[in-house]
Amino acid sequence: MTLSWPGRGTASSSAKTPNAEPERFATASGHGELHFGDNLTALASLGKTHRGRASLVYLDPPFLTGRVHQAIGRAKAPDESGPRLLGAARPRRDAFDDRWEDRGAYLDALGSRIEALKPLLADHGSMVVHVDPKTSHYVKVLCDEIFGEDCFASEIVWRYRRWPSKTPNFQRVHDVLLRYRVSAKAPPRFTTLFEPLAASTLATWGTGKQRAVVEGKRRARSSTTEEPSQGVPLGDVWDVGLIAPVARERTGYPSQKPEALLERLIRALTHEGDLVVDPYMGSGTTLAVAARLGRRFLGIDQSEVALETTRARLAAAGHELFAADASERAAS
Ligand SMILES: C[S@@+](CC[C@H](N)C(=O)[O-])C[C@H]1O[C@@H](n2cnc3c(N)ncnc32)[C@H](O)[C@@H]1O
Repeated sequence: MTLSWPGRGTASSSAKTPNAEPERFATASGHGELHFGDNLTALASLGKTHRGRASLVYLDPPFLTGRVHQAIGRAKAPDESGPRLLGAARPRRDAFDDRWEDRGAYLDALGSRIEALKPLLADHGSMVVHVDPKTSHYVKVLCDEIFGEDCFASEIVWRYRRWPSKTPNFQRVHDVLLRYRVSAKAPPRFTTLFEPLAASTLATWGTGKQRAVVEGKRRARSSTTEEPSQGVPLGDVWDVGLIAPVARERTGYPSQKPEALLERLIRALTHEGDLVVDPYMGSGTTLAVAARLGRRFLGIDQSEVALETTRARLAAAGHELFAADASERAAS
């Protein structure tokens, strides 16, 4: 089964400078790198140098909103000195353009990038594409085509809370994260994560681990053991809060995702020392979490605001990124 639309494969992409070779930045340790430019152009070279190296590719592309998204200058945190800027006083800058000729152009651009990303994955690797319910069904069919239906692993629903709206509809309070394995045969990298037990389970069973009591071939009942329970294995509906307006991690970059969301993906799908790739890096959430968890990281973005925000964010965490030839000199 394939998706078709008029002019498939011929539409323009969102690339600002499609042919310019991206600028490369790297940490002195060589554990992190960043490419500033169009991701499809960057992937043409990375397909040769990084083939089979990534354990996780996470993509958070623009959501087909039909508008230009602006970054909002950061208000000072309460413990920082100087005046706190509020609302309209904060400077705004265009960060990225999410206007498209039509949905076909959007899917063409995204599909060609997913195709170029697939060869970067190791056999145990996963790709996670973050979309919303307006496009998730199209993107899923596209990914089934590129990876094969048997490589579809999960649809994670990220559920968050937001201010109630008065629209005559069920308010949208979730995004969709589609996970594909690169190979249906190779054992995937996967570490089970646990969530706390539900209040009703705690009330009935306490904090002890449950063990199934099997009679004949059937599970007859459960018994509680002395061993403390780790919780319940994490399912595919994730309750993770949006970033609070005054949270320390907030950068002002539009559409910034919470570190807690990326932390779940990176902990579950990679090991320490593995490479995590984010070709729509934005404010660098994936890179910052990967660095904190001891993973190697590679980010790509064509927005100057994204480049500045990510470099500042990583530098504050002790991972300064230098223009590549300078960092190569520092390492030698
Ligand atoms: C939704 S934002 C990513 C936000 C990010 N996950 C975060 O937490 O900050 C999408 C990003 O993709 C970038 N982008 C869009 N098209 C691109 C392209 N063709 N090449 C490189 N970057 C692109 C935009 O500049 C923007 O920063």
